[in-house]
Amino acid sequence: MATRVEAQTSMSVSDYDYSSFFYSSSDDPFAILEPYNEWYTRALQQGYYLFSQPMSTPPRGKIDLTEGLHHQHIKLLNLSSYNYLGLSYRPEVIAAAKAALDQYGLGAAGSPILSGTMDIHVQLEEALAKFKGKEAAMVFPTGYSTNVGMISGLMRPGDWVIADQNAHASIVDGAILSKANVRFFRHNNPADLEKKLKQTTGKKLVAIEGVYSMDGDVCPLPELLAVAKKYGARVLLDEAHSAFVYGANGRGVAEHYGLEDEVDIHIGTFSKALGGQGGYVAGTRNLYNYLKGFARSRVFSCTLSPVVAAGVLKSLEIAQKEPQLREQLWKNVAHIRSRLEDEGVDVGESTSQVIPIMVRNDRRIFELGHKLLRAGLYLQPIIYPAVAKHRSRFRVSISASHTFEQLDEGVATLVRVLREEGILV
Ligand SMILES: Cc1ncc(COP(=O)(O)O)c(C=O)c1O
Repeated sequence: MATRVEAQTSMSVSDYDYSSFFYSSSDDPFAILEPYNEWYTRALQQGYYLFSQPMSTPPRGKIDLTEGLHHQHIKLLNLSSYNYLGLSYRPEVIAAAKAALDQYGLGAAGSPILSGTMDIHVQLEEALAKFKGKEAAMVFPTGYSTNVGMISGLMRPGDWVIADQNAHASIVDGAILSKANVRFFRHNNPADLEKKLKQTTGKKLVAIEGVYSMDGDVCPLPELLAVAKKYGARVLLDEAHSAFVYGANGRGVAEHYGLEDEVDIHIGTFSKALGGQGGYVAGTRNLYNYLKGFARSRVFSCTLSPVVAAGVLKSLEIAQKEPQLREQLWKNVAHIRSRLEDEGVDVGESTSQVIPIMVRNDRRIFELGHKLLRAGLYLQPIIYPAVAKHRSRFRVSISASHTFEQLDEGVATLVRVLREEGILV
């Protein structure tokens, strides 16, 4: 954006979004910082910048948070955290992490390929491989670095990465880093995938997700796999939001469809249902051995903290031993969906625990978010570039640990504010 925000006095903070601040006309890379900071400061002052407000409690149904406008500590009903099975603060998980802290100290102090592999990491990888029914599983420091390392570790210039148009930034960034040719097919559209595959020759990787993180819809895996196989493409399935949640045993959307062996690369994160941090790739031993040398986001980065690894290992154990957590989650999802439907709220195509509350107004989303916050509800506004322009929404994340009362309270507040603001009729 070449013009300064303050020069346009008639413009309000909500007239801008991140795309206004990608470019400046100057040769100095720092030239963009000032106009952006003018907007940012005004957005903060007016209570429209609702990101990164610090929480001082675990991500429970009820949280304490310091809001950004007056720096006041407030109590909120939380419908924003990923903690799908409520495991991040389970006493057994905390105890396992504390014991690991005593045994190993805070960090691994090295890359996994050099000195940073501890026995707790090996145990976690073995437990994951067993859970997924695969020869091997590799742990990465984050879910983001998992996709980046996996895709850029395997694909090369001249190859093809063909991803769903709604694929997560980590898939997109991994593909860009690989310097392969990158194409996108229409969201969840096997016919368009076929069209794109037909136009390519050489090595091909199709990258899709189990549950899409911003829309909460599930991929049509059988149809997508059939097309990918027809054209000899390998398939990467990112189950960040579906692992430990979908499937009779919690092994994700691939298990749900009975297609675990047809998927070549299984990816997941520990930051969602397991309430921790980190990510994994599960597949063949050959894939593991190759990635060990070539997944640069893992090779050139310190190993996941042993404290987190131990907590995640305990979360994994609980997720397997307590299928009732998944059952409760699905009961909660059914409950809130029926309440939202009764009220006529637009939840897009969601069928999962990720439920977008479609606002489709990029300018008003922050103002609405601020009103919701003042009304006691913590919901994150999602705007471009996380979603396409004019597809802004609030994203509800349901946990097994929510009570029906909390969900009812959340829907009542949401509906009241959306009606007052004319978003919901
Ligand atoms: C589909 C998908 N993949 C990967 C990630 C990155 O995971 P993490 O936050 O654990 O780094 C996310 C995060 O939201 C995601 O939605």
